[in-house]
Amino acid sequence: MDEVTLRPAVDDDAEALVAFWAFAGENESRPTDRPEMITALLAHDPSALLLATVDGEIVGTVIAGWDGWRAHLYRLAVRPDHRRRGLGRLLVERAEERLRALGAGRFDAMVLEGNELGDASWRAAGYTRQDNWRRWVRPSGG
Ligand SMILES: CC(C)(COP(=O)(O)OP(=O)(O)OC[C@H]1O[C@@H](n2cnc3c(N)ncnc32)[C@H](O)[C@@H]1OP(=O)(O)O)[C@@H](O)C(=O)NCCC(=O)NCCS
Repeated sequence: MDEVTLRPAVDDDAEALVAFWAFAGENESRPTDRPEMITALLAHDPSALLLATVDGEIVGTVIAGWDGWRAHLYRLAVRPDHRRRGLGRLLVERAEERLRALGAGRFDAMVLEGNELGDASWRAAGYTRQDNWRRWVRPSGG
């Protein structure tokens, strides 16, 4: 693998992150990312968004969200030319370490139906699919 650096995202990464996710992320059936969503996340929890970079460029991301009750993993994405080298697995492991240290007893990830890369990756990381729950949503209007 190329020399990969892992670090928390900062506000200055916001534009590059939006561009990265548009290219490398799972983008169906969710609101479009905006830079201010990232700065709001970092204001709430400065260590929540973990980046992998190579030569200063973003090649991977994961959000390890902890609200004091639940631990959610979001935005797991690896740039296509860096996939299948263990980077996704590494990001998940680091995110889990953070969440465990914060007190999480369980981790969860939402995967869009039919996302085979997501399914394979979470399964490989030891996650199992729950078929007895459905997410219910309503736009906030905000
Ligand atoms: C999902 C994703 C982050 C995986 O990143 P990655 O760096 O390629 O993952 P890894 O190399 O760490 O793979 C870990 C394991 O996941 C499984 N896996 C990952 N990609 C796979 C594929 N294309 N086919 C089959 N298994 C796969 C394998 O078991 C793999 O272990 P192995 O390589 O030792 O066989 C990447 O494919 C991606 O960015 N996809 C688009 C965004 C997305 O769908 N994210 C998930 C949202 S829920």
